[in-house]
Amino acid sequence: MEKIIEEKNQGTALTLEKDQKNTRNLYIESYGCQMNFSDSEIVASILAQEGFNTTNSLEEADLVLVNTCSIREKAEQTVRKRLEKFNAVKKTRPHIRVGVLGCMAERLKSKLLEEERIVDMVVGPDAYKDLPNLIREIDEGRNAVNVILSKDETYGDVAPVRLNSNGVTAFVSITRGCDNMCTFCVVPFTRGRERSRDPQSIVHEVNELWEKGYREVTLLGQNVDSYLWYGGGLKKDFDAASAIQKATAVNFSNLLALVAEAQPRMRIRFSTSNPQDMTLDVIETMARFKNICNYIHLPVQSGSDRILKAMNRLHTREEYFELINNIRKIIPDCAISQDIITGFPTETEEDHQDTLSLMEYVKYDFGFMFAYSERPGTLAARKLMDNIPEEAKKRRLSEVIDLQLKHSLQRTKEHLGKIEEVLIEGTSKKSELQWMGRNSQNTVVVFPKENYAVGEFVMVRIEDCTSATLMGKAVGYSENN
Ligand code: SAH
Ligand code: F3S
Repeated sequence: MEKIIEEKNQGTALTLEKDQKNTRNLYIESYGCQMNFSDSEIVASILAQEGFNTTNSLEEADLVLVNTCSIREKAEQTVRKRLEKFNAVKKTRPHIRVGVLGCMAERLKSKLLEEERIVDMVVGPDAYKDLPNLIREIDEGRNAVNVILSKDETYGDVAPVRLNSNGVTAFVSITRGCDNMCTFCVVPFTRGRERSRDPQSIVHEVNELWEKGYREVTLLGQNVDSYLWYGGGLKKDFDAASAIQKATAVNFSNLLALVAEAQPRMRIRFSTSNPQDMTLDVIETMARFKNICNYIHLPVQSGSDRILKAMNRLHTREEYFELINNIRKIIPDCAISQDIITGFPTETEEDHQDTLSLMEYVKYDFGFMFAYSERPGTLAARKLMDNIPEEAKKRRLSEVIDLQLKHSLQRTKEHLGKIEEVLIEGTSKKSELQWMGRNSQNTVVVFPKENYAVGEFVMVRIEDCTSATLMGKAVGYSENN
């Protein structure tokens, strides 16, 4: 099932067209979350100014950058294997330089250079503007490190180049960092404190994307509902802002409305929502604008109040149900997806049953499910024993996945017979003769190409489905086209 990702963490080499002026080749591989893929586009944009073209051939590379993920141990192991491979390539092509970006860079810092000696450069997620200097250092034969986290860096002034783009959908980052301190999560340590990007620069980027032919944007942040612009600076310093700054502050529902109004035909999505920060205004704004998609990724992690508390998720099971009820009342056809962790320290069979019963209540459209992986330095690692045996974690995980598969199939079946708007993203992976796109609810829809084209909004009659994909036939253009 395509949409259920269990410990799936493939690296992707990202490229774009060559600029003839540039003389060196950058091979950049990204792992982990959408934010990392979006950051790689910022990095490629900064390095294009420094004379680098992107390439997807390791053989052509002068500089290899790996944008890394630390969220689970397995993600780090995957990256380490890749670094070994790059080091092997270096033996035959000694001029190649290798750099680590992203969360592993921030977490392990100069350890990667000094103890492990597997890279030439280590650059944390807030230091990409320093890359030109750092590359000069490595060109002169020295190692280079910058892992300083920032109070205000949002890269709002860097126009990202679009790597491996389908020309139709794009990510736009709106916040960086996270202040939530979920006890299992390494992100607050690797990406620093939360800050929001200037709404004007967000709207400007969305306008430019529309001009270039893009038809869907996903506003990205670790916790988008916590977006708050009051002229720059950290979210946690908002209380000390001036009266004027407070009065003119822009929150997430204001931002959604700004973007939706600026480009009324652009589809708008966002990810990720933390239940404790999602307000009714956001749901009402979604309902008010036709171009904001009816889909919310709403990670719950566990259905047990005791475990939620131990995770420092600041809502109860009841409050989560209340939020789900409000979403269903205000946007009846809204799709909802989850993240769930099984085997968090001290999780009992009863807690696990609570997770399954919560899933039964919500009947998520799809989900991303993981076995707990202890991350060094997190509160859970410091205070709690990782005491659930691996077999129990895995067994609970497969029970959660099986139930999700059942619910996903129930949900996709609800689309049968309906005529739904689909934005065409490209050719279906399974057949050259079929288009692949998504409906508002973010479910993949495939249908015969006929004379339709990539980037068009098409009305499709849904005729068949699996638990992850809808199959249908186009019946004409959407009025949005
Ligand atoms: N707010 C973030 C969440 C980042 S992590 C976002 O924008 O996506 C994505 C998911 O990974 C989390 O929701 C959680 O379900 C899972 N996760 C995070 N830390 C984990 C850990 N230590 N072990 C297992 N899963 C974890
Ligand atoms: Fe991690 Fe919780 Fe933030 S999962 S990214 S600390 S909302």
